[in-house]
Amino acid sequence: MITDNQLINKFEEFFLNKPSIIVKAPGRVNLIGEHTDYNEGFVLPIAIDKCTTILASKREDKKVRLFDLKYGEGDEFNLDSIEYVEINRWSNYQRGIAKVLIDEGYRIGGIDAVIYGEVPESAGLSSSASVEIATLLSFKELYGINIQPLEIIKLAKRAENEFVGVECGIMDQYASLLSRKGYALFIDCRTLDYSNVRVSLPGFSFLVCNSMVKRELANSAYNERRKECSEALKFLQTYLPKINALRDVTTDDIKKYGSYLPPTLIKRVMHVVSENERVIKAVVELEHRKTITFGELMNQSHQSLKELYQVSSEELDFLVETGKSVDGVFGARLTGAGFGGCVLFLLKESSMKPLKDKIFKDYMNKTGLTPQFYEVTPSRGAFSENNIS
Ligand code: GLA
Repeated sequence: MITDNQLINKFEEFFLNKPSIIVKAPGRVNLIGEHTDYNEGFVLPIAIDKCTTILASKREDKKVRLFDLKYGEGDEFNLDSIEYVEINRWSNYQRGIAKVLIDEGYRIGGIDAVIYGEVPESAGLSSSASVEIATLLSFKELYGINIQPLEIIKLAKRAENEFVGVECGIMDQYASLLSRKGYALFIDCRTLDYSNVRVSLPGFSFLVCNSMVKRELANSAYNERRKECSEALKFLQTYLPKINALRDVTTDDIKKYGSYLPPTLIKRVMHVVSENERVIKAVVELEHRKTITFGELMNQSHQSLKELYQVSSEELDFLVETGKSVDGVFGARLTGAGFGGCVLFLLKESSMKPLKDKIFKDYMNKTGLTPQFYEVTPSRGAFSENNIS
């Protein structure tokens, strides 16, 4: 853990001048609503208290000079010719953000920036979205860009889709920017409206367990799942011409037309339709502080991701089952894209130690991997401070 003052010292050491802003953008954990965002459905993430921090100052020219403390590496590019790089791939996020801003006609110039990321990578906790949002806010603050929150979210997503090459939906960037301390964010990924849902479950906690199996989104089945969803949509549109996304499909539609679709595709549709219903129910349960039913919805979500959407893994299933065998654990599900990454538990505070102990022992025995734990509480979204030194 590096303090902000230490980061300021690092900045001065690298760039021999002072940073003028500090920006922090958090990672997120999704409570429920997985693989629904790109089907125009519903999601319910919270921001976590792990952030990407950027300290930056303006330059007089068009150079962007970066130093990433996590990698211990520097990189540099010119705003007039922004290209994807294979070495220092971490800098593609800054490159992508600068590129979309320029393509959209925003006037930006060079910056010096130190980056420090605390969000674990390839763990399904949206480290990339946190870097994108932090970078975009840095340019916004330094160059006084007038840009609305929704536009920031869309541009950050676009950088990831078009420049980095991951077809992610809108949830992660949204959660990183607009989350509120103490609340989950209920997002309608069609209208892009949101509401804050109070998370107040006295005596209970959310715990994230990192399987330490890395999930490489760009090379994974993520883009393939997206394709399957569009294929399923096309099939269904022959019978249901009015639907525009899998969001519009109902359980009755599946009963009527499901058998006309290839078996894999209908499974994907069943997941999306049922997951959307679960999110809507979960919001109500959360509002009424119904911990047990909220936990059950989490369990059903995992089952569906495992059986129907097929994005779980042996390690994630093992963590889920092991966790559920501990007294006082009410919900367990993979969170994020899947194929590795993290499991989220909802549990009684008194079960925290027994759960961690059991998982440490059993998971290490089974896999040889040392899991990591993060106790998460709904945290605030991205913010910046000016004139810091
Ligand atoms: C990744 C993507 C999100 C979302 C989740 C799955 O985190 O970035 O847009 O699709 O996977 O719910």
